[in-house]
Amino acid sequence: MTSPINASDRQAQKTFFIKTYGCQMNVYDSERMGEALVADGYTETAVLEDADLIVLNTCHIRERAVDKVYSELGRIRDIKEQRLAAGKSTSVTIAGCVAQAEGAEIARRVGVVDVVVGPQSYHRLPALVRQARTDGQIIATEFLDNEKFDALPVRKRARNTAAYLTVQEGCDKFCTFCVVPYTRGAEFSRPMSQLLDEALKLVAGGVREMTLLGQNVNAYHGVDAAGHEVTLVGLIRALAAIPELERLRYTTSHPRDMRDDLIELHATEPKLMPYLHLPFQAGSDRILAAMNRKHTAADYLELVRRIRAKNPALALSTDIIVGFPGETEAEFEATLEMVRTVQFAQAYSFKYSARPGTPAATMDGQLSEAVKTERLHRLQALLAEASTRFNAGCVGKIFPVLFEKAGRRPGQLIGRSPYLQSVYADVDVAALGRIMQVQISAAGPNSLAGVVCA
Ligand code: SAH
Ligand code: SF4
Ligand code: F3S
Repeated sequence: MTSPINASDRQAQKTFFIKTYGCQMNVYDSERMGEALVADGYTETAVLEDADLIVLNTCHIRERAVDKVYSELGRIRDIKEQRLAAGKSTSVTIAGCVAQAEGAEIARRVGVVDVVVGPQSYHRLPALVRQARTDGQIIATEFLDNEKFDALPVRKRARNTAAYLTVQEGCDKFCTFCVVPYTRGAEFSRPMSQLLDEALKLVAGGVREMTLLGQNVNAYHGVDAAGHEVTLVGLIRALAAIPELERLRYTTSHPRDMRDDLIELHATEPKLMPYLHLPFQAGSDRILAAMNRKHTAADYLELVRRIRAKNPALALSTDIIVGFPGETEAEFEATLEMVRTVQFAQAYSFKYSARPGTPAATMDGQLSEAVKTERLHRLQALLAEASTRFNAGCVGKIFPVLFEKAGRRPGQLIGRSPYLQSVYADVDVAALGRIMQVQISAAGPNSLAGVVCA
């Protein structure tokens, strides 16, 4: 529970600044941490130097993640000293996946850190910051399942027309390259009633599009109010019944958990957007086995065929890793072949980076940076061709666009197509938060332009 705000804290009006790295789940977590701090009497500042409390919400997925945190802490140490000279104290928290994996070590080495809080404990952030003022450095990295969602303050306002909603956390898949099972812990699904409550609050605050988040979101298996198990399909159906909620998305899915009823839902639920993020990681079966993905390239292609058979308008995005330990040139070619076959609308591609503590980090055949970089360039050139082709194919079509924010020019707004493309159009600000039909007139590599239909 958040403790009551005492009068002196309220008078002080302490400010906080949260810097967010990594995935959408971290974006969601930062929002919830911010709300917990506001409930504790803090206000948010957009200027790091002005903050009484600085939170770094870190990501551990990429190389040099820890170095980045150390260099940021170096900068913060200077700021803390300057503020101290001006008579102001600064509290520093590291949160997120680096905090979970290596936070204790970082805190030991860098005195500037007051609180280390793992992703499962951030509901305790206001109390921990207070406690650190008297007790000194505090490390909170235990796994507590649903405790945080019960303890966090009720959501009041929405930041945007489109919001994230974390429905599932953690992962039991243990892909050999990935830190998530260690930083986020075992798979856990939030109960449906809690999610419906949160969704209703967000919708009341103006949200019209919701992206359901989970490291393995299609493995969602919560319970309904009667205690019966609900899958992602049941959850999406229940959310789709909220009249003002107009669009639903979910990410990230694992190919192994893409069940028939979920594929079917893409044909029958109009609020579910025709866009699916489905990582395939590698095109070689030997590499996929070494990654412990538990599917083959043929399994993935067959899945794509079934999905497209149900909804031909659906577009796919994916994640790909190049240069996994032992990857040969021919095995990398298999990844390129997969990209040519599927034709992704969008993709995220990465050089393999050894994450300490994961099985792949100590495998034989680690590749040189030069080989990985060269393969990544070839892959990205191919991916760019496909996404450019996909965007160009949108010209002339009429898309429902949800307008989210002001554009660069006066009179212009930016919205999202069903395929998550940014769409620029000249339209009255009254269109903000609304879906309008837009005829696409031009396509760039990363966005579309269009004209609102009469
Ligand atoms: N839960 C999601 C994504 C997890 S992380 C899933 O299973 O698909 C997002 C992406 O980062 C992964 O899909 C993978 O492509 C990439 N990634 C994760 N660990 C990595 C590593 N050690 N090196 C390179 N890329 C990695
Ligand atoms: Fe990581 Fe694999 Fe789990 Fe995704 S499915 S979070 S890549 S272990
Ligand atoms: Fe990064 Fe943790 Fe997300 S490692 S990608 S912040 S789950």
